[in-house]
Amino acid sequence: MTRPRRPRRLRQDGVRGLVSETELEPSDLIAPVFVDATVDERRPIESMPGHERVPVDEAVDRAEELLATGIESVILFGIPTSKDDRGSRAWAEDGVVQEATRRITAATDAYVITDVCLCEYTDHGHCGVLEDRAEEDPDVTVRNDETLDLLARTAVSHADAGADMVAPSSMTDGMVGAIRDGLDEAGHEHVPVMSYAVKYESAFYGPFRDAADGAPAFGDRRHYQMDPANRREAMREAALDVEEGADALMVKPALSYLDVVRDVREEFDHPVAAYNVSGEYAMVHAAAEKGWLGLEGAALESLLSIKRAGADLILTYFAEDVADAL
Ligand code: PBG
Repeated sequence: MTRPRRPRRLRQDGVRGLVSETELEPSDLIAPVFVDATVDERRPIESMPGHERVPVDEAVDRAEELLATGIESVILFGIPTSKDDRGSRAWAEDGVVQEATRRITAATDAYVITDVCLCEYTDHGHCGVLEDRAEEDPDVTVRNDETLDLLARTAVSHADAGADMVAPSSMTDGMVGAIRDGLDEAGHEHVPVMSYAVKYESAFYGPFRDAADGAPAFGDRRHYQMDPANRREAMREAALDVEEGADALMVKPALSYLDVVRDVREEFDHPVAAYNVSGEYAMVHAAAEKGWLGLEGAALESLLSIKRAGADLILTYFAEDVADAL
């Protein structure tokens, strides 16, 4: 007679920890911070409960609050004082991200990563310089190659302000190479580039576009961000960024793209980051608010799944609460 196999033996409390395959730690988490040059007090972000836009004057306090939970790294997004067609406040020496970076790196031990993109800085909300016919013709939006120089200038200005790492998110072809060259020429050869290498055109960015005031005024981003239908293409995108000198590779969003996180993990030996995006955060909060699921459990399970899929690092709006709970 064959004895029943009993995997349940290893699920008893005393041994669960010993056989656990995936460990989530505060140092795996990168906390997004929205710094707003147009406010002088913190403003709640309605679609992202628990998150606020913070004035530049409070950037250091905000970073310290996060560090107190065991988180070591923040990623900064900026809301500028003004916008124009090229997004010139993105590379201004006294820009919002530059100023916040300067203060946080001077006053704290936080590892400061900056998001490098133009969509929060352009008056049309697209991630680069517009084509002339962009408004009439939904098939054209940004001028890829003209955008590269602006991204490089932005990244260099962040590094000049003390950024520890830059993270280009515009899905401009060639952005990693252009930024790497720019950084090297400016003497920032030690500043790593974490590329949003595989970024999908996703419906899950909705709340972020509220938070950072970066929704496109017309059209969408489907000509520069990836088609959610495509998995093999993700490998091509990541390979290009590796060739161009990316130090870490990001997949975004995370939860709907865990297969892609796994693929990138297996194909490359670079650190893999996954961005648990605003919509993924807002969904859990909305359901929890209705009493339909438990917030803490759902948050932890989300992050654990992302790690289990192969991510080394997770950018997440749950960072503060989960790090606190851990
Ligand atoms: C900027 C950028 C976006 C996000 C991060 N960087 C918005 C977008 O591409 O529309 C989204 C983050 C989130 O939803 O949490 N390009």
